[in-house]
Amino acid sequence: MAISENYPLFIGGNWIDKQEKYDVLNPATEEVIARVPNAGPEEMKQAVEAAVNAQAAWADTVASERARILSDAARLMRERTEKLAEIMTIEEGKPLAEARGEIAYAASFLEWFAEEAKRIYGDTIPSNSRDKRILVIKRPVGVTAAITPWNFPAAMITRKIGPAFAAGCTMIVKPSELTPLSALEIARIFEEVGLPKGVLSIIVGTEPAELTRVLMDDVRVRKISFTGSTSVGKLLMKQAADTMKRVSFELGGHAPFIVFPDADLDEAVSHAVLAKMRGMGEACVAANRFYVHEEILEVFTEKFASRLEAMKVGNGLEEGISVGPLIEPSAVRKVEDHVQDAVAKGAKLVVGGERTGQEKGYYYPPTLLTNVNEEMKVAHEETFGPVAAILPFSTEEEVIQKANNTNYGLAAYFFTRDVGRIFRLADQLEYGILGANDGMPSTAQAPFGGIKESGLGREGSKYGIEEYLDIKYVSLGGITN
Ligand code: SIN
Repeated sequence: MAISENYPLFIGGNWIDKQEKYDVLNPATEEVIARVPNAGPEEMKQAVEAAVNAQAAWADTVASERARILSDAARLMRERTEKLAEIMTIEEGKPLAEARGEIAYAASFLEWFAEEAKRIYGDTIPSNSRDKRILVIKRPVGVTAAITPWNFPAAMITRKIGPAFAAGCTMIVKPSELTPLSALEIARIFEEVGLPKGVLSIIVGTEPAELTRVLMDDVRVRKISFTGSTSVGKLLMKQAADTMKRVSFELGGHAPFIVFPDADLDEAVSHAVLAKMRGMGEACVAANRFYVHEEILEVFTEKFASRLEAMKVGNGLEEGISVGPLIEPSAVRKVEDHVQDAVAKGAKLVVGGERTGQEKGYYYPPTLLTNVNEEMKVAHEETFGPVAAILPFSTEEEVIQKANNTNYGLAAYFFTRDVGRIFRLADQLEYGILGANDGMPSTAQAPFGGIKESGLGREGSKYGIEEYLDIKYVSLGGITN
């Protein structure tokens, strides 16, 4: 099914078409669904100019007006859920029910930051002199840029433009070239609710490194927010050094999912399915390593296997489908490589492990491996697919050490009814997000982000807006007369 609408680029508040276009594919059918202008450095430079020109007036817009724009955009987004979800399923592959959930999640960031826009407070600090007062004020950092991934084509954009606009920053968004349509739909919404021209641009093209280079080299772009792989994050951090840009990075993960013998096993299994299979496992917070206590290994494996086996794989637009295609052939190859590597090193395939069925589309079935050890790729590399690897453990101390034995530190999950243990693990697991009896902790009001090589900075929550604000202080003299 092709999308009949036209999708030009959104540059400085204008819709700009270009002769050179590229194909956007549906990963479920491999069909071309749209042809989108292929932006190059020239279009990116225009977007930066437009943002620079719009910045001062936007920074001076009253908070209530910025809040109004954000909440009107959220309302439109919710009203258009069906259309936006369908576009997302067609360009990204996730099942329609999940796409609807992502639209609600995306709108919730706009709603949250509409409120936060009104709460950009400063401080007054006692001074050492009776003649002085010290005032702290916060101002927008200026022109900002977002580089967003394909796996959450709407929410990863609103999680960045929400706080940027709330703070009074302009933003240039470079979405993944694989999922441009959701991004351009978001631009339409902001245009309709009266966002001033130049505050938002959406630039997409098949040479992402060239586009990003324009942003990184321009000293007027004061901040970059990136969601994607750790390797690209490291590169961007080096590039940001030249102009001393502020950065926030939400990078890769390799989440452990730990089940203790005192856990509610049925609950743990349901959350395991959620934490593993949301978005076909293509999430940075996806659970990868399932550490299951040896006393419950057999029963947990059986229950988890039967839930994974029951999941229906297919085109996400169809009724009853809970596992869509992966994003592209290279994603399937990576998953296949991880599974083959594990099996070659002695892992046992309990569910899945082989592509079946569909002639077209980048499908891979839910797969469960046991007898996994730390030497296998699944145990230390991000698989980014529907593969769950089970590893047994016997003591709390041992599993904490194993869970932390990675350079990643984004999300970790653990299931236990022992309150003391919950606090011990919360202290000792080296992760930014901890799901204690919760396989789905993401929400707009909580600080999302990682430690170690999983990133810098936080998105969402009261902390998210701080990433877009500079602190200044005014030392005010001449008080006494
Ligand atoms: C991600 O894993 O990239 C984002 C997922 C989320 O926001 O929950």
